Amino acid sequence: MMRHKIQFPATDVAELAQDEVYFYLLNGRGQRTKFRLHEYERIYQIPGLYEQVVYDRLKCQSPSTVTDVLQYALSQSDQRLNELRVLDLGAGNGMVGEELKKHGVSRLIGVDIIPEARAATERDRPGVYDAYYVMDFCSLTGDEREELTTWSPECLVSVAALGFGDIPAQAFLEAFNLISKHGWVAFNIKETFLDRSDESGFSTLVRELIFSEYLDLYHLQRYRHRFSLEGEPLYYFALGGKKNADVPRSFIETLQLPD
Ligand SMILES: C[S@@+](CC[C@H](N)C(=O)[O-])C[C@H]1O[C@@H](n2cnc3c(N)ncnc32)[C@H](O)[C@@H]1O
Repeated sequence: MMRHKIQFPATDVAELAQDEVYFYLLNGRGQRTKFRLHEYERIYQIPGLYEQVVYDRLKCQSPSTVTDVLQYALSQSDQRLNELRVLDLGAGNGMVGEELKKHGVSRLIGVDIIPEARAATERDRPGVYDAYYVMDFCSLTGDEREELTTWSPECLVSVAALGFGDIPAQAFLEAFNLISKHGWVAFNIKETFLDRSDESGFSTLVRELIFSEYLDLYHLQRYRHRFSLEGEPLYYFALGGKKNADVPRSFIETLQLPD
C-alpha cells in the first residue's frame, strides 16, 4: 500500500479533546492538508492513510486485543469463534474484520454510518465481510433491523467506535438487543469508565450493564489502546461477556442517558 508523508502538529495539542486532534498530510510539493483524526469520511477516501496514522504511528492495538478478549471469554464456554455469526458495529475500513477473519468466523456482518467506510473496506479488504451495511444505529428503520436479523447474529463486536462522539449508548443497546439471547459481546471502552465521575452515556451504561442480569462479564482487560499524538499512552479496557437477555426499555429509562 502507498506510503504517505504525515506530519503531526508541532504545537502542544494536549489540551484538545480526543476527537479534535489533527495531523497533516503532505503532498509531493510540500503542501499540507489538515485532517482531524475523527474525520473518517475524508481519511478513508485515501488508501492506507488511516492504517498509517492509527496503526503504524499511533500503534493502535485494539482490533487484536478485543478479538483476544473475545477468545478468552469463549474459551470459558463450549463455543468457538469460528462457529459464530458476528456483527461488527462501527466497522470502519475493516481492520477488525480482518483480525476476526484470521481466527475464522462463520459469518461476518459489518455496519458503519458512513458510506466511505464501506467503500474503503470494499477497496482495501474485499471479501472480508459477508455483508457490509451503511446504517445509523441511532435510528435504524424497521426494514434495516429486519435485514440485520436475517443474519441471526450471535456476537457483537465494536472497536474504538463507542464514546467520544462516535456511537452513543442508545446505538450500542440497539445492537446488543439485536444479537441472540445468549450471544457474545466484545468491545473496548476508555479506562475512566469504572469511575462514577465519568458520567458519559456509554460509560454509565456499561457500568450498569456489568451489574445487571442482562450481561455476564467474562473478561476485563486493561491495555494500551494507542498513543496520543504527543506520545502519551491511552489506556482502555477490553470487555468480553455473554448476553443473558435483551435490555428492556425500562432499564434504559432509569439510567437517564444523554442523547
Ligand atoms: C475509530 S473508527 C473505528 C473503526 C474500526 N472499528 C477500527 O477499529 O479500525 C469508528 C467508526 O464508528 C463509526 N460510527 C460512528 N457512529 C456510528 C453509528 N451511529 N452507527 C454506525 N457506525 C458509526 C464511524 O463512522 C467510524 O467508522
